[in-house]
Formats: sequence, C-alpha cells, structure tokens
Amino acid sequence: MDELDRIVAPGSLGDEGTVESSLRPRFLAEYIGQEQVKENLAILLDAARAREEAADHVLLYGPPGLGKTTLASIIARELGVRLHTTSGPAIERPGDLAAILTNLDERDVLFIDEIHRLNHSVEEILYPAMEDFAIDVMIGRGPSARSLRLSVKPFTVVGATTRAGRIGAPLRDRFGAIHRLDYYGETELAEIVRRSAGILDVEIEPAAVEVLARRGRGTPRIVNRLLRRVRDHAQVRGDGRITRAQAEVAMSAMDIDEQGLDTTDRRLLAAIVQKFASGPVGGAAVAAVIGEEVETIEDVYEPYLLQLGFLDRTPQGRVATEAARRHLASLGYEIPPPRRGDRMDAGLWDGLTTEGRIDAEEDR
Ligand SMILES: Nc1ncnc2c1ncn2[C@@H]1O[C@H](COP(=O)(O)OP(=O)(O)O)[C@@H](O)[C@H]1O
Ligand SMILES: [Mg+2]
Repeated sequence: MDELDRIVAPGSLGDEGTVESSLRPRFLAEYIGQEQVKENLAILLDAARAREEAADHVLLYGPPGLGKTTLASIIARELGVRLHTTSGPAIERPGDLAAILTNLDERDVLFIDEIHRLNHSVEEILYPAMEDFAIDVMIGRGPSARSLRLSVKPFTVVGATTRAGRIGAPLRDRFGAIHRLDYYGETELAEIVRRSAGILDVEIEPAAVEVLARRGRGTPRIVNRLLRRVRDHAQVRGDGRITRAQAEVAMSAMDIDEQGLDTTDRRLLAAIVQKFASGPVGGAAVAAVIGEEVETIEDVYEPYLLQLGFLDRTPQGRVATEAARRHLASLGYEIPPPRRGDRMDAGLWDGLTTEGRIDAEEDR
C-alpha cells in the first residue's frame, strides 16, 4: 500500500493541511502532554522576553505527527514574532539560505523542518549565522576571491528532525535547547480527541474516545485522522453522534486492529516472523520483502512497533518479539517457531548469569 493511502501514516496526507491547522494548538497552554518539554520551553520563552532578546535556538526531534511543527509555530506566536518556514531539502544552495537569513526581522523564528537533510555547504553558512548572527559570502572567483562577512539580525532557529542521529555534532552544539518528543499516552490522546471533537463540533461518547485513543499509535496526527473518519461513519450510518459501536465498526472497516496496527504494520511483522523465523534480519531484507524503502520503514513503521514492544533492535538486526507473535497468532496468522527461541525476550541474560556463576564457582 502507498504511504499516502495509509490511515495510520504519521506523515500528513494530501489535503489534510487545512483541517490540521484548524486543530493545531496555538499557545503552549493549549498544547496537550509533553510536560517536560513545555516546562523547559516556557522558561526559555520567558527568559527571552525578559531580556528582550532572540530566544535560544531549539532543536526538536521525534517521530512524525507528534507536534514538532506545532511547537515551532507556538514558539513564534508566544514570542510575538514572525515565523518563517523552510526545510532541509528546500534549501539547495548556500545563497538560498543567505537570502532567507538576510530577510529575517529582529527575533524572528526560522523553522527548518527535516534539518538533518541540509546539505553540507548550506550548513556551513548556518553555523556562523546561529552563533554570531553573521554570514560569510564569497565575492569574486579564483585568486582574487575574498570572503565578506555580513551581519544578520538576531533570530531563533527552531529545527525539527525525525533523525537526531543524522545531525552532526557541529550543528547540534549550536542549539541551546534540544528536546525529544515522545509518543503520547492514552489519557493524553483522549484529551486531544475531546479537544478536536469540540473544534470540529461533533459529539462523541466517552467510550468511543477511548477506542480512538487506544488505537491512535501514541500520535496526535493519527488520532485526529481517526476521529475525522469515524465522524464520517457516524454521519452516514447514524445520527452524527459518535458511539463506541460506530467507532469500532469504523476501525475494522479501516482494518486497524486493537493495537492500532494497519495492514502494512502487520505485513512487516508477519514478514519477519514467517520469512525470517522472527529474525534477526537486516532492514534491507525486510524492505525488499514488503516493497518499501528502508528509510520509510525506519522512520515511519518501526518506531511505534519498537515502542509497543513488538520489535527489538539488536546488533544483528530486527527481531520480532513474543508479544508480536502472540498478537499475530490472535489474528489467525501462522507462526513458525522463532530461530532464536525465547532467548531474545528473556532467556539470553539468564543464560549469561548462569555461566557467570559457574565460572565464579570454578575460580573458588
Ligand atoms: N500536543 C498536542 N496537543 C494537541 N494536538 C496536537 C499536539 N501535537 C500535535 N497535535 C496535532 O497533531 C497534528 C500534527 O502535529 P505536527 O506538529 O504537524 O507534527 P510533526 O511536525 O511532529 O509531524 C497537528 O495538526 C495538531 O493538530
Ligand atoms: Mg512537521
């Protein structure tokens, strides 16, 4: 299935932008969950306002759909400055970035999405800009070329990435604050569903809120999308009010199971369990079997399966856990015995302890 067709795809789909922006919290106080991040950002914003200076640069990382873009716009709004939005792949040449930077007003926020995809020559311009609010431009060519330093107005970079590991130390070190966004708990997702239902002006019974929160993969973007689909169902099949029964029917119509997994997630797990004896198996092999890019698997599918405890990453590759096998078995999948037995889940460390004890006894 195409990523674009997936109901539970954490990236935003086609024309979703407009609805998304109506559901987007506008101030820190409206932003649900991520308490630690909010607390730290509140201090950073207060300090910047008190000093009447540009706020420190902020790097946000975490899986898609958890609220990074939302936070960037909240930061700008809370500071009362303009938000300029760009992304790593959109800035092709150093000159493109120089043009953006020289257009910023004092204390503006420059949001760079997918900042791990900036190319190296562009990064080189960004370093002095972030550190000294200056850019070095080259004038002329060949032996007569010289570098000219231009100053830019103090500003704040908010960077977002799904891949913290891809950001080199020189760039990372220029951020005053680095925050990781985590998957949301069911209580927080329920709160998000209730808030969104209020904005969309749709009535939803508490038991239906729970159904959505449980299957929302810890991701606000997904839970909002489920809500809109269920609302359609309730409008067409009922009186517009979302009941628990309707929520459940809509979920099975979309092929989303109890754990919030869709057909692609199950295909991925089933491939590891059935074709690779539960692993370990490398990303490329899994990608080939299910016909997806390795990067898509790593950024989009795997993070939640890891979080659920359905996948483990080992130095040898991915391993489907006992919990994943039980889940698939409950859905009627055939489960061949795992290559490494239960050692990956529990027994491995027990074995080592026993050997350790034997060695110790022999030493005595
Ligand atoms: N903490 C939150 N509280 C309420 N809604 C949220 C929250 N975080 C994200 N959302 C909703 O989820 C959607 C996706 O968030 P977004 O900031 O675009 O995610 P990301 O940039 O991390 O992919 C937004 O439209 C917003 O409505
Ligand atoms: Mg985003």
